[in-house]
Amino acid sequence: MAYRWKNDLTPADVTPKSAFLNRRQILAGAAGLGASGLIGGTAAQAQEALEPNTLEEIRTYNNFYEFGTGKSDPAAYARAMPTDPWEITVDGLVDNPGTFSLAELLDGLTVEDRIYRFRCVEAWSMVIPWNGVELADILERAGVQSTAKYVAFETAVMPEVMPGVQRRVIDFPYVEGLRLDEAMHPLTLMATGIYGEPMANQNGAPIRLVVPWKYGFKSIKSIVRITLTEDEPPATWNQINAREYGFYSNVNPAVSHPRWSQASERMIGGGLFSSRQDTLMFNGYDEVASLYEGMDLAEFY
Ligand code: MTE
Repeated sequence: MAYRWKNDLTPADVTPKSAFLNRRQILAGAAGLGASGLIGGTAAQAQEALEPNTLEEIRTYNNFYEFGTGKSDPAAYARAMPTDPWEITVDGLVDNPGTFSLAELLDGLTVEDRIYRFRCVEAWSMVIPWNGVELADILERAGVQSTAKYVAFETAVMPEVMPGVQRRVIDFPYVEGLRLDEAMHPLTLMATGIYGEPMANQNGAPIRLVVPWKYGFKSIKSIVRITLTEDEPPATWNQINAREYGFYSNVNPAVSHPRWSQASERMIGGGLFSSRQDTLMFNGYDEVASLYEGMDLAEFY
């Protein structure tokens, strides 16, 4: 498995896990960052302000409504979800539609380490060291047709092992969508692991989306279908309450949620006195700003 580093945080921002990275790899990663010019104000702020997140924190404070609405429900119940074998259908406006095993979907693609800030719409944040492939690599192999403008995603529905589905806490399947250029952006990841370990079920095993400049609910878990469409696809939270949760949902300190401010965020594991920091536009991933040129981000929130 080939690894290459590309992110705006350094490994110093996460808890070192000896099983995950040795010192040499950490230094190589940091050097790569400097060379690619991705370190900026964001990384500087991140290094000063962010406390590391442990695997324990990442695996015990979750949103995965299929397993219940409480933060500890996914850790308590998701282990019952069978994730092997797992099939993913790629269809819609593609030249090579099909249903693939996870191994077939990932075959030949480069699995990378990406340390990303993760910002939930509920105004909390973590720093998570993901492993995964670029969504663009999957889409390129699928052969996106010229009429496609959006990508739709769907989560598995397994009522027998999903208490939240049994209780219909929201409508399932959980669905999400991206504009095609957002989906093709090199930051957009299909994650298969964290800290070099296979994705825990509560984090969206065996494969989930990660879009680091958008609120966390866009990062749909346990994906079974990827569909290329011409029209904007439905998105679960946007359908539940379009006024509170837009389709775009780019992290934006200037656009408040109707019920709370997004100007600052609580860092999970940040400690009692250093637990809040300012929210950054696009969660600090300024390189995506050009995707939204000419758009009023207060209107398209
Ligand atoms: N995907 C599915 N299928 N169901 C969900 O309830 N919750 C979203 C997102 N993806 C959710 C989901 C929300 S609100 C957040 S903040 C993130 O998953 C949480 O990811 P994490 O638990 O790995 O931190």
